[in-house]
Amino acid sequence: MGKEPNTTSATTNSEAAVSAAGHAEFKLVGFRNFVRTNPKSDNFAVHKFHHIEFWCGDATNTARRFSWGLGMPLVAKSDLSTGNSAHASYLLRSGQLNFLFTAPYSPSISAPSSAAIPSFSFSAHRSFTSSHGLAVRAVAIQPFRLTSASISRGAKPVSPPVLLSDNKTAIAEVHLYGDAVLRYVSCGDNGAACDGWFLPGFEPVDDGVSYQELDYGIRRLDHAVGNVPELEPAVEYLKKFTGFHEFAEFTAEDVGTAESGLNSVVLANNDENVLLPLNEPVYGTKRKSQIQTYLEHNEGAGVQHLALVSEDIFRTSEGNEEEKWGWRGRAGDVLTDEQIEECEKLGILVDRDDQGTLLQIFTKPVGDRPTIFVEIIQRIGCMLKDDEGKIYQKGGCGGFGKGNFSELFKSIEEYEKTLEAKQVTQAANT
Ligand SMILES: [Fe+2]
Repeated sequence: MGKEPNTTSATTNSEAAVSAAGHAEFKLVGFRNFVRTNPKSDNFAVHKFHHIEFWCGDATNTARRFSWGLGMPLVAKSDLSTGNSAHASYLLRSGQLNFLFTAPYSPSISAPSSAAIPSFSFSAHRSFTSSHGLAVRAVAIQPFRLTSASISRGAKPVSPPVLLSDNKTAIAEVHLYGDAVLRYVSCGDNGAACDGWFLPGFEPVDDGVSYQELDYGIRRLDHAVGNVPELEPAVEYLKKFTGFHEFAEFTAEDVGTAESGLNSVVLANNDENVLLPLNEPVYGTKRKSQIQTYLEHNEGAGVQHLALVSEDIFRTSEGNEEEKWGWRGRAGDVLTDEQIEECEKLGILVDRDDQGTLLQIFTKPVGDRPTIFVEIIQRIGCMLKDDEGKIYQKGGCGGFGKGNFSELFKSIEEYEKTLEAKQVTQAANT
């Protein structure tokens, strides 16, 4: 690792379509015509995802529910007991996946300087949670170094770089979409130094209260998907300051049902282990696009779903139904008879691309609103060797479940219809 970025600018599939058409209109070529290339165009070298931060009204309860729902033990805290009077933050971890849950203390007693996350703002948190409910505030990535290249080239600043108390770790934030931020966490010249612990100001949680044995097999974040009203400005903005390239495209024809749909672009870093898909709604279909439904309930753009890699999706999806969340889906046809049977039993979807196989399953929305949900995936195949002879799996192996989108959409539409039916009944009764 530790590669220097190549600054050559890439001709993307959507731009190529534009020049062929001869006018400056953002146009996707769709899944079938998309040619996958990796121009290695990052403006700054990115190691991996670092963590995801949810802003919520009560971090203790939200973290606990995710902990049991996903099999992620509580490993660290920063709250009143550690001297932080600005916010309560709890960290869940499974493998390399870090989920942070943050809620504010009363500003009447809080000392902002005691915040472990220096960008924390009571007023920003209050307006965020009242607009969005439970939602992702920060998608954190780990650049090798936090330099001006990371936060220039048109990135809209949210929080300037701050060196934390260990004099090693630096944090900065720029606008991502909606009220979500892209957070940079850098650990000096050696990106691997971040792996040892989380952030200064956090303390380990005692085994007695943290259920350290919890583990359903989840290992890391694969992709973090945003819903936006319009793809073009969101994609262009992100591409311009990160240098990330287009990794995949899906249009309404590829992934929609007869009733509603979306357009989607997946952006990736050089190593293709940081995948940031973006969706926009399509209009004029029989039913309102589910992306539009999200935008209404979320009061604007935001993170739609987080795809988590499991080392054993069967283990992640089975078991203690009372503690785990409800799953939905349908099986496909590429595994052994026993595995297919297991997929059907558990509702695991199967899809593949030209390179590998994808097993996936989705939760229902995880909070009050029909907005954010979680996807569990297992990618099979696409094993490659790096320069040092180490075997690794190519990013995005098996695709994103294009073949399952319409099944998922039907499932979301059925869920929406049950809500609509309820509203009609209630209206008739009043
Ligand atoms: Fe996904």
